[in-house]
Amino acid sequence: MQPARTCLAIVLAAGEGTRMKSARPKVLHEVAGRSLLGHALAAVTAAGADALAVVIGPDRPDVAAEVKKHAPHAAIFVQSERKGTAHAVLAARESLAGKHEDVLVAFADTPLVRPETFAGLRKALDGGVGVAALGFEARDPAGYGRFVTQDGVLQEIVEHKDADEATRAITLCNAGLMALDGGKALAILDAIGCANAQNEYYLTDAVAVARAQGLKAVARVAPETEVQGVNDRAQLAAVEADFQRRKRREVMLAGATLVAPETVFFSHDTVIGRDVLIEPNVVFGPGVKVADNAVIHAFSHLEGASVGPSVSIGPYARLRPGAELAKGARVGNFVEIKAAAIGEGAKVNHLTYIGDAEIGANANIGAGTITCNYDGFFKAKTIVGEGAFVGSNSALVAPVTIGAGAYVGSGSVITRDVKPDALAVARGRQMEREGWASAFRAAAQARKARQ
Ligand code: UD1
Ligand code: CA
Repeated sequence: MQPARTCLAIVLAAGEGTRMKSARPKVLHEVAGRSLLGHALAAVTAAGADALAVVIGPDRPDVAAEVKKHAPHAAIFVQSERKGTAHAVLAARESLAGKHEDVLVAFADTPLVRPETFAGLRKALDGGVGVAALGFEARDPAGYGRFVTQDGVLQEIVEHKDADEATRAITLCNAGLMALDGGKALAILDAIGCANAQNEYYLTDAVAVARAQGLKAVARVAPETEVQGVNDRAQLAAVEADFQRRKRREVMLAGATLVAPETVFFSHDTVIGRDVLIEPNVVFGPGVKVADNAVIHAFSHLEGASVGPSVSIGPYARLRPGAELAKGARVGNFVEIKAAAIGEGAKVNHLTYIGDAEIGANANIGAGTITCNYDGFFKAKTIVGEGAFVGSNSALVAPVTIGAGAYVGSGSVITRDVKPDALAVARGRQMEREGWASAFRAAAQARKARQ
């Protein structure tokens, strides 16, 4: 699918995004658990970019750190003054020095562009094209650059602020993303001036400049939903909604049943197997894998968890990072699991917290069992052996090991290890006084009568 040519992707991330009304720079806001910048970097990488340059604003160690997190090898450039999109691309001049055959320009605030679309833009450079620009049919074109075409051929891109009435009537708009011939990119960009309404160096002028230099320019078109950018929180929510729609569809087409897809929320990296059933109102945080034939009942929340084949979860279950459920395990309602491996066929069915633990295969953890894993300073581990049976309402005070096949009496507070196949009971012994209640009632009633 990708051209065999080498490719440099330049991602523009210099905007503060004042309309977000946030202490965080815009490109660090998240969609489906990943920053806008992270989405853009992932998409250009998947489109075959073998080198990355990211242009950030001055004094933004947080943005630089996010770049490093997603693309450790990316070169980071600082655009110290905001003088337009072409000026921003030229901040990465060093990386543009002609080593790469294709140059892709992407905006970090446009997170839904598919890798196929970026790859298509590169493909459009085939046959000696100088510039390929990505457009879309805008429902409301106000504010966007317009694609001026003649006989279907892209002539120039005119920014809204520079456009006359006739040009403003054009609905084919510029998404902002572009591919340029790597051998020609610098000559094109360097020839862009700033004689326009905003006195900015417009990347969009690359089209007219390339044509003036005798090169061809072409347009590609993508759906508006795919190229929508984020400027404020309402647009952030719109982009999130579209991401979720796309991901739900992917998951269903890959063989999972979503009873009420619009109520299930995925993370960018959620992996769902075949014949998985997901009931309504389930939320996946980052880092979740669900194997085939698992059932996630309603109102469950999963994050950083691995769910084995034929596992059943919920309703109302919470899996936190490090929860690993082996084949056929069952985790029921109001159960929280954190950093714990639940063995094959083990059951943790009701009202339980299992943290920092290993639960053996086929063990049964009774209702209300709690692993007491934290003393205010340190975390400690609980190990429950294969086939062990922990009675309801037990507290397992870690570090502690319950041997394989052992029984723990209900209501026990277990502070010492239990041998395999033993019975441990750690609670007050039951005592009984015959007739005590009737005698107590009689005495109390007599006292009341005297008052
Ligand atoms: C840009 C396009 C416009 C297009 C629209 C799509 C230009 C001149 N205009 O306009 O045709 O319809 O996107 O949303 O390209 N940036 C920098 N440094 C700068 C200026 C911008 O890094 O000096 C970055 C921004 O952070 C952002 C991107 O470039 O990621 C686009 O900039 P923005 O100011 O939003 O451009 P628009 O005016 O929306
Ligand atoms: Ca914009």
